[in-house]
Amino acid sequence: MARLGLRRFPPPMLLLLLALFLVAAAAAGKGKKRGGGGLRFRREGGTFKVLQVADMHYADGRSTACEDVLPEQVAGCSDLNTTAFLYRVIRAEDPDLVVFTGDNIYGADSTDAAKSMDAAIAPAIAMNLPWAAGIGNHDQEGTLSREGVMRHLVGMKNTLSRFNPEGVEIDGFGNYNLEVGGVEGTLLANKSVLNMYFLDSGDYSTVPSIPGYGWIKASQEAWFRKTSSSLQKNYTNEEPRQKEPAPALAYFHIPLPEFSSFTASNFTGVKQEGISSPSINSGFFTTMVEAGDVKAAFIGHDHLNDFCGKLTGIQLCYAGGFGYHAYGKAGWSRRARVVSVQLEKTETGEWQGVKSIKTWKRLDDQHLTSIDSEVLWNRGSNGRGSKDHDRS
Ligand SMILES: *[C@@H]1O[C@H](CO)[C@@H](O)[C@H](O)[C@H]1NC(C)=O
Ligand SMILES: *[C@@H]1O[C@H](CO)[C@@H](O)[C@H](O)[C@H]1NC(C)=O
Ligand SMILES: *[C@@H]1O[C@H](CO)[C@@H](O)[C@H](O)[C@H]1NC(C)=O
Ligand SMILES: *[C@@H]1O[C@H](CO)[C@@H](O)[C@H](O)[C@H]1NC(C)=O
Repeated sequence: MARLGLRRFPPPMLLLLLALFLVAAAAAGKGKKRGGGGLRFRREGGTFKVLQVADMHYADGRSTACEDVLPEQVAGCSDLNTTAFLYRVIRAEDPDLVVFTGDNIYGADSTDAAKSMDAAIAPAIAMNLPWAAGIGNHDQEGTLSREGVMRHLVGMKNTLSRFNPEGVEIDGFGNYNLEVGGVEGTLLANKSVLNMYFLDSGDYSTVPSIPGYGWIKASQEAWFRKTSSSLQKNYTNEEPRQKEPAPALAYFHIPLPEFSSFTASNFTGVKQEGISSPSINSGFFTTMVEAGDVKAAFIGHDHLNDFCGKLTGIQLCYAGGFGYHAYGKAGWSRRARVVSVQLEKTETGEWQGVKSIKTWKRLDDQHLTSIDSEVLWNRGSNGRGSKDHDRS
């Protein structure tokens, strides 16, 4: 190894070199600003962990009663139990990011939508975690419109939520992406090794001849396609060039029609109610398959479903209901979904790109029981359009 002959430099030069080194080290420490609020993988384990909280249905706090709990649990049960669960699961999992996938508040029962939202998200802020949110079909039923709710979310502390991409005509509110950088000080420190897409899946159809829920629109798919393609190009073409695109996760509220593709024989978790997707298929699943980078999509909306099933190389996952003022099933614990993404390590011990994506759920029972742990994706196990080789 070539040693730098420091003795060849006169003392003032040494000081200058030291100053330059310190400035460079500080810059490297901050890292290049990626479009993700500085999210990155941890050095210790090479992991990045996301806690998904679906359907809190928060309203007025202590005065808002719980729904669907056992008769002996009714007394003293309120929105504050939702808050307590969020604190417990954050403490137990120590996530790097909390994602709220809509119906964060239940507008119809909220006196002041902004206040309800502040109270619902408060534990993530109090624990000083970065968080990102999207909206569902109930957030706007109170004192704020859909646009108003999203504007409020993007103004809150520690939020990485964004209103919409700039300079793009797009449907809905809360369409954005986040980038997660590689471990600081490694070759991939300035690259987005994991991408996350957030989309507004709407509330209800506005087309009179089509009943039911809303859907992801063509304008949103166009933005997703363009963003995915650009991220993939940057990952594989910019130095240090990577062989395969970085994997991605998608988060929204309403299930795509493809969530109906499974039976108990090919999903992990439970299906205890129908799949409340829109009555037409706007094609977003196919768009994700074509883009190739999304390995798993995570939603909420149907509180009694909490399964993950794999279709055409993409895992479709429910989180299960989190909130106590949301409908549920008495005796069936409220729950949250955790996703843990693991980096590959070289033989020399340097962290690389993503190796695997795992998931499990946490129940709001006495021991915060973890259930249904599974690997959603492994590098090399399911390349673009290839057949499943890892079905157990
Ligand atoms: C709600 O919180 C109260 C107060 O901590 C607790 O006693 C009660 O068991 C909780 N109820 C449920 C259903 O978790
Ligand atoms: C990452 O960016 C920082 C700041 O621009 C730079 O100092 C550092 O050398 C970069 N690291 C790599 C591996 O490219
Ligand atoms: C890809 O890299 C270019 C050049 O650095 C940058 O302008 C663009 O925003 C990147 N694409 C995405 C989706 O971040
Ligand atoms: C799941 O299993 C059912 C019943 O065997 C089958 O009809 C369906 O096509 C399977 N779905 C997937 C995505 O493999």
